[in-house]
Amino acid sequence: MIELRDVSKRLGSRQILAGMTLAVKKGMNFVLMGPSGSGKSVTLRHVIGILRPDQGVVLVDGQEVSAMDNKQLMALRKRMGYLFQNGALINWLSVFDNVALPLREHARLPKSELEDRVQQVLRLVKLDHAAAQFPPSISGGMKLRAGLARALVTNPEYVLYDEPNAGLDPIISHQIHELIAQVRDELNVTGLIVTHSRACATQCGDRIGILENGKLAIEGSVAEMVQSEHPLARAFLGGGSD
Ligand SMILES: Nc1ncnc2c1ncn2[C@@H]1O[C@H](COP(=O)(O)OP(=O)(O)OP(=O)(O)O)[C@@H](O)[C@H]1O
Ligand SMILES: [Mg+2]
Repeated sequence: MIELRDVSKRLGSRQILAGMTLAVKKGMNFVLMGPSGSGKSVTLRHVIGILRPDQGVVLVDGQEVSAMDNKQLMALRKRMGYLFQNGALINWLSVFDNVALPLREHARLPKSELEDRVQQVLRLVKLDHAAAQFPPSISGGMKLRAGLARALVTNPEYVLYDEPNAGLDPIISHQIHELIAQVRDELNVTGLIVTHSRACATQCGDRIGILENGKLAIEGSVAEMVQSEHPLARAFLGGGSD
C-alpha cells in the first residue's frame, strides 16, 4: 500500500502540497486528477523519494519513504516502476537497450536471462518486432509502450504512471488503458496514475481522487466519482470532458 499522510511541501515560494492524504490499496489503480500545476507530478516524486515532505509522511507497505537513506531508496525503486510522460526514452539507445536499462542498473542477471526478460515485456506491450529500432524512428504510441515495458521490466509491485496517454489518439490511448488494466489484473501491479483523461480514469481506475489547493478535494470509487455533482468531478469526469 502507498500512503501519504498529511503531506505538505513548499517549492520556491509556493505551497504545493498542504495536508495531502492519499491511500493506494494493493492491487488497485488509483487515479490522481487535478488542474495543471496542482502538484500531481510532485506527489509522484514524493512516492519514489525524489522529494521529501516538509511535514507529514510517505509510506510504502508501512515503511517511511521520507526517512529512507540512499540504499533503502534504491531498494524501494527496484520494487517500483515509473512511466514518464512520452516514455522519456534515450534516443541513442535501441528500444531493447532502453527497456534493459533498469535491469542493468538494479539486477546482475546473466546475459541470456536479461535478454529473455526484455523480450518477455516487449511481447507484453506488443513491441517485440521493434526491439532493434531507435526512439526517433518510432511513433508516440510505441514510445509510450516502450516506456511501459521499461517500467515493468524489473517485475515491480508498484507502477507510477505520469500521464500515460498524453498526446495519443483515442485508439492508441484505449490500447494503453487496456494494457494498464491488464498489468493490474494479470501481474497484480498496484498503480498510481496521473491523468487528465476521463477515458483513462474510467477504463483503468478503481478509485479517483482530485487534487486542488494542495490536497484531495474529493475522492471515491470510479462509479461514485462519475455520478458526483461536485464541481471538480463534473469538470474532470462530466460529459463534456474527454
Ligand atoms: N523543483 C521544483 N522547484 C520549484 N517549483 C516546482 C518544482 N517542481 C514543481 N514545481 C512547481 O510545483 C507546481 C506543481 O507542479 P507539478 O509538476 O506537480 O504539477 P502537475 O499537477 O503535475 O501539473 P501538470 O498537469 O501540468 O503536469 C508547479 O507550479 C511547478 O512549477
Ligand atoms: Mg505533471
